[in-house]
Amino acid sequence: MDKTMYAIEVEKLTKIYGKGETAVTAIADATLQVKPGELVALLGPSGSGKTTLLTSIGLINEPTHGKVVIDGTMVADEGWLGGLDLKRLRREKLGFIFQHHNLIPFLSALENVMVALEINHLSRPEAKKRATDLLESLNLGHRIESYPKALSGGEAQRVAIARALANKPRVILADEPTAALDTENGKNVMTLLKTLAVENQSAVLVVTHDHRMVEGFDRIFQVRDGRIVS
Ligand SMILES: Nc1ncnc2c1ncn2[C@@H]1O[C@H](COP(=O)(O)OP(=O)(O)O)[C@@H](O)[C@H]1O
Ligand SMILES: [Mg+2]
Repeated sequence: MDKTMYAIEVEKLTKIYGKGETAVTAIADATLQVKPGELVALLGPSGSGKTTLLTSIGLINEPTHGKVVIDGTMVADEGWLGGLDLKRLRREKLGFIFQHHNLIPFLSALENVMVALEINHLSRPEAKKRATDLLESLNLGHRIESYPKALSGGEAQRVAIARALANKPRVILADEPTAALDTENGKNVMTLLKTLAVENQSAVLVVTHDHRMVEGFDRIFQVRDGRIVS
């Protein structure tokens, strides 16, 4: 199979926390692939291993066994591959969205998004233009000068999404992005992720245990006790 066909490829990924008697197998033998432009869910109860799988794909949490390939680059094969600049790969290929927005409290909405762009070497005027356009497209044009504490939960989450998407990453990883939102804001966030997946041809992998949000996904993987069961 053509290796470049998938944005995310995971083969027999296992993550074991700790050693010996206290070892916890959080993910066992997980295999999945996500194509560019696809919106895929990891659905399962609390403690089933969803966050572990997402952070193992996201170059945050070293897999114990198995392979991870991101946008054609093998990053893990029985642990991280040697010689990789994980930070740089994270910055260039991945966008993260968390349950709680993680915005920088002393920067405005605009500056929070600009930071992500400037880290990837956009000039300040270019970063400002792109961040403004993005925030406007997320209906936050009136909020660009606001600080995180002045934003509603839905607004803050949309700013965090703008920041994660600023560099048009090939892969977007979202951990319960709608959990802190009401149904309407949650639906808006899902619609937005779907649109962006298609427009930017990003692979979007969303962890959720929110059954209200399952519409709109191209595929759903069910996770139970560390295993992908369907
Ligand atoms: N850093 C860690 N150290 C030890 N055990 C962990 C750690 N993170 C998660 N676990 C355990 O791994 C299992 C899966 O957790 P997690 O991936 O957070 O599941 P979910 O996101 O589905 O709620 C749980 O049993 C949890 O207690
Ligand atoms: Mg979790």
